[in-house]
Amino acid sequence: MIVCHCEGIREKQIQDLVSETGASMKQVARQLNIGRDCGRCLSNLKSVMDKMHPHLESDLNKTSLGKTRGPVLFYAA
Ligand code: FES
Repeated sequence: MIVCHCEGIREKQIQDLVSETGASMKQVARQLNIGRDCGRCLSNLKSVMDKMHPHLESDLNKTSLGKTRGPVLFYAA
């Protein structure tokens, strides 16, 4: 599956990078230039990361009070 159409990045490339380096979502985005153009692929990247680390994602989406917060958007500069 292509995750980022602007850069032609496939899911397998992300999986390989995370497996080899343990990169975070932000690091993956920076290294592979995901989200640098139109940004429509960031939700795809999040889905791939969620599939790889479902336990981490649930922690990231919770505030210190244990409440779930909305989506966190960022721009990978
Ligand atoms: S689809 Fe990834 S920047 Fe456009």
